[in-house]
Amino acid sequence: MIRRINLRNPEEIEKIRAAGQIISEVFALAKSSIRPGLSTYELDKLCEKHIRSRGASCPCINYGQPPYPAATCISLNETVVHGVPSKSRILAEGDIVTVDVVVGLNGYMADAARTFPVGTVSPEAEAIIDAAEASFFRGLLAAIPGNRVGDISFAVQSYSESHGYSVIREMTGHGIGVDMHEAPDVPNYGRPHRGPRLEAGMVICIEPMIAAGEQYIMIDEDEWSCVMEDGELSAHYENTVAITEHGPEILTMTSDEVEAFFAKWQSK
Ligand code: MF3
Ligand code: CO
Repeated sequence: MIRRINLRNPEEIEKIRAAGQIISEVFALAKSSIRPGLSTYELDKLCEKHIRSRGASCPCINYGQPPYPAATCISLNETVVHGVPSKSRILAEGDIVTVDVVVGLNGYMADAARTFPVGTVSPEAEAIIDAAEASFFRGLLAAIPGNRVGDISFAVQSYSESHGYSVIREMTGHGIGVDMHEAPDVPNYGRPHRGPRLEAGMVICIEPMIAAGEQYIMIDEDEWSCVMEDGELSAHYENTVAITEHGPEILTMTSDEVEAFFAKWQSK
């Protein structure tokens, strides 16, 4: 089936940004709430409460098959994505925890993820968190009109692999807007100059999912949690990005965060 790539006008992009700004608040809340002893269930509930307090919705609830049972995905250590929040998963010092959030507002959606340290973590854990963010930045730089999706994919893959990480193949980034997953797929591996051409008005999620060991994953008994087969550490970093004539715009950060993000990575 060929899925059309939706182009959004500036008003529509502002609506996606409005949803995205709530996600940036959720990350600030998550960052200040994460501590050893907190369950992933409690963390999910804190995020959900905040989203609802903004009059927004949680499109993950009941999404897919089997219906997803929570507002956010919370993935620990070797769980790379789609971790199902649980009262029995308790954050421990040294863990790394990915919070992946979709927010719906006024008919539009945004989607983003961050991996956070729990207390003090190993140098290896710090490094993989940084590498996921850095590979996103490389992908972002390729997200300009005239390039193709493969240019983003190649940028993410080459950064990750040249720093010793593998990239997950089964899960990809995606278009977003009215639905959570729209065309095109945005893989974290690929070849330059291949795939759909990027145009101003496209809104996509760029989301490196990387692992310290091999790339292979398995799906847990809960039928959602996506776990590294070899049990090695993994990390995920995602933003919703609008392609514009002036370059890529990150819709899931505040303008201050965008400025700090570019200052951080452009100098490296
Ligand atoms: N952010 C995730 C993604 O884009 C959420 C989808 S899984 C869900 O894949 F069930 F939580 F919705
Ligand atoms: Co996503």
